[in-house]
Amino acid sequence: MPNLESNFAGIKSPNPFWLASAPPTNTGYQVMNAFKAGWGGAVWKTLGQPIVNVSSRYGALSYKSTRMMGLNNIELITDRSLEVNLKEMKEVKEKFPNHALIASMMFEKKEEWHDCIKRCEDIGVDGFELNYGCPHGMCERGMGSAVGQNPDVCEKITSWVTEKATKPVIVKLTPNISDITKPALAAQRGGANAVSLINTINSVTGINLDTMDPNPTVSGLSTHGGYCGPAVKPIALNMVSELTNHPDFKLPISGIGGVETWQDAVEFFLMGASTVQVCTAVMHYGFRIVTDLIEGTSGYLDSHKMHSVGELCGITAKKLKKWEELDLNYKVIAHIDPEKCIGCQLCYIACEDGAHQSISVIPGQRVPMIKEDHCVGCNLCSLVCPVDTCISMVKIETGKSKITWKDHPANPLAKVKAF
Ligand SMILES: Cc1cc2nc3c(=O)[nH]c(=O)nc-3n(C[C@H](O)[C@H](O)[C@H](O)COP(=O)(O)O)c2cc1C
Ligand code: SF4
Ligand code: SF4
Repeated sequence: MPNLESNFAGIKSPNPFWLASAPPTNTGYQVMNAFKAGWGGAVWKTLGQPIVNVSSRYGALSYKSTRMMGLNNIELITDRSLEVNLKEMKEVKEKFPNHALIASMMFEKKEEWHDCIKRCEDIGVDGFELNYGCPHGMCERGMGSAVGQNPDVCEKITSWVTEKATKPVIVKLTPNISDITKPALAAQRGGANAVSLINTINSVTGINLDTMDPNPTVSGLSTHGGYCGPAVKPIALNMVSELTNHPDFKLPISGIGGVETWQDAVEFFLMGASTVQVCTAVMHYGFRIVTDLIEGTSGYLDSHKMHSVGELCGITAKKLKKWEELDLNYKVIAHIDPEKCIGCQLCYIACEDGAHQSISVIPGQRVPMIKEDHCVGCNLCSLVCPVDTCISMVKIETGKSKITWKDHPANPLAKVKAF
């Protein structure tokens, strides 16, 4: 049986599955229920100066039969007083001393950060998460993503915190930036012990076509919100891998964004995260999903004869290279399994209109035919085919040895190198 115990930058927890700072960590009642259900840690809903929230505040993208594929919110940080939050956090820590309780914070002034750090340490929190990611409301007041988008400010505020805190400091990054490595390296320079990513992505999820009001509506108006849930996982995985693969970045990573199942969590570990945090899936399905995360990850480790999540960390990130390093002579072509094909012709239409005209439909025949000499191996037909594993991509031997763009004769830079 693998050991799921986690030590993330010095923060210990029974497992690497934490609740992200968000509505599921609003209150002590919720966090205690989550710990009872099996969550290893919780990042409390961000503490800060008193704010007021709007109503309504969530919008969602439902795609065909999938509800809430992406969730959007225009909510701010906690709207409860610091005193109430600290009292409940203390109760949680007393009842669950071995679970990780992280205080997420967002302030403007150095003295405010220092005061909150002291008060949180007094009630026994295990670490801090600095919210440099909130993409609405708080950034207009110079906080949240306004910090995460400016590496100098990110470094400065992180150093204010690290000069005071005696517990580990995690910097939570915003994805609303073109190069995620810049604020991550700034956080490292500021003395952070770890980073977490991603916070939510700027978005407008939709418009009510009857009223022409944007979602979520606040008396007919709205504002751009933060996008999260299953739809954002590919963006989060890429950003996590960019940090894992950066030669100068050395901090542990807590992966966030679209984690719902154990497979999602394992993907984040393979990209280099050593814990994961979850928000939308818990808002959708409740705390109970942690059972799947624990059992599924344990089973996966067992099946790979591994003993801990640490053994997975970053394995796949190493396989992400620059495009110029890929083998141009590697070739696959599509193959249709005639036993599985239902004759829907979706593959034909996709290839004919949207790809390389490499599939023929023969009158009277249910199964389309791949024109093997034309097929460029783009994958499109296998992606649109509604029958699982009906179209597979089969490697063919070209007899040619590996060549990358880096060394290709048509690459002017490669030629320069050759001389
Ligand atoms: C309604 C809502 C409120 C959130 N509030 C906070 C917050 O106060 N502090 C914070 O750091 N992140 C906040 N987040 C972002 C989440 O912690 C998380 O980074 C994001 O939702 C991506 O994870 P997910 O795809 O599992 O939801 C919030 C997200 C949602 C949906
Ligand atoms: S892999 Fe691409 S090119 Fe080949 S048959 Fe399918 S869609 Fe057409
Ligand atoms: S999409 Fe799949 S099932 Fe439909 S015709 Fe093509 S191979 Fe057959």
